[in-house]
Amino acid sequence: MRNVGIVGTGSYVPDKVLTNADLEKLVDTNDEWIITRTGIKERHMAPADMPVSELCYQAALKALEDAKVGPEEVDLVIVATVTGDHAFPSTSCIVADRLGAKNAAAFDLQAGCTGFIYGVATANQFIAAGMYKTVLVIGGETLSKIINWEDRSTCILFGDGAGAAVLQPVEEGYGFLSFELGSDGSGGKLLTQPAGGSRYPASQDTVEKNLHTIQMEGKEVYKFAVKIMGDVSVNVLEKAGLSKEKVDLLIPHQANIRIVEASVKRLGISPDKVVVNLDRYGNMSAASIPVALDEAIRAGRLREGDIMVMVGFGAGLTWGACVLKWTKVGKMHD
Ligand code: UT7
Repeated sequence: MRNVGIVGTGSYVPDKVLTNADLEKLVDTNDEWIITRTGIKERHMAPADMPVSELCYQAALKALEDAKVGPEEVDLVIVATVTGDHAFPSTSCIVADRLGAKNAAAFDLQAGCTGFIYGVATANQFIAAGMYKTVLVIGGETLSKIINWEDRSTCILFGDGAGAAVLQPVEEGYGFLSFELGSDGSGGKLLTQPAGGSRYPASQDTVEKNLHTIQMEGKEVYKFAVKIMGDVSVNVLEKAGLSKEKVDLLIPHQANIRIVEASVKRLGISPDKVVVNLDRYGNMSAASIPVALDEAIRAGRLREGDIMVMVGFGAGLTWGACVLKWTKVGKMHD
């Protein structure tokens, strides 16, 4: 089996910023409540005519440039999203076409906010097994388009964005060291966009009942998140044969600063090793982790040989984590 790593990253958020003060004009809320309960100060919103494929395309362009990889070299494009352009065709096909990735297979993957972790785990298998050499994994969302702007318990949380990573073979001992993925469909009703699929196809009734927007039982998701983020990080480190003291950087899903702090405390990792950007972007679901990863790399927070953990949870319910020994040097001659 080949070792697999991330050899380039990119991210993109739309220009328009929605602040907590802007939200005060829409619903009965206030800046202090939002910051205290979530840590979020602002989020970015895609304009009405910008689909998620555009965000994914922009992030992917930067990742390919960073990896010095041409679009024709890409063997597979995976887009993790819950807000694809259409039910079909897949967003990955649209993005691959725009990039000029003529030789790539393409599919979308849906694992809620854990989507990017599921995406890199999938890409890793294709490369490790020798089927592909270069896989582009993108997490992208336009959650602003499925928000109920009258529901103050959800509309303050989410934002739009996309992050991308190029995966290739790397030197032995480097790259992904372990993965852990999980699901519990019995919790599916806690976080859902109920209508628009085959159970509740779009109808006047579903629109009138707001069933095309995000419905969430926040408290239950919160409890689940704090427990699972700590547990899955411990498991994935154990699988890699590493203690928590070896972790140089932790990139958690960016849902709520209280969830991040509680799970970091549970895990016993120093807060200065944790990447947090949710104050500027809110919860971007599948885009949260890859955008945070790209920013951390560009800020010089990862050095060759560092141990990095990415961990997330989301709708499904799903969860996942991975451990990497960092290198950006690809090994394409194998
Ligand atoms: O990627 C996964 C997606 N989701 C999540 O990770 C979300 C996980 N859950 C959470 O982050 C938190 O549960 C929330 C931020 C959603 C809510 O925070 P909370 O501390 O659990 O608040 P709560 O739902 O218990 O509400 C407390 C109070 C309620 O009022 P009463 O009943 O005590 O009078 C709410 O009605 O706060 C009220 N409230 C608000 N007040 C001002 C709820 N939303 C707002 C708001 N502004 N935006």
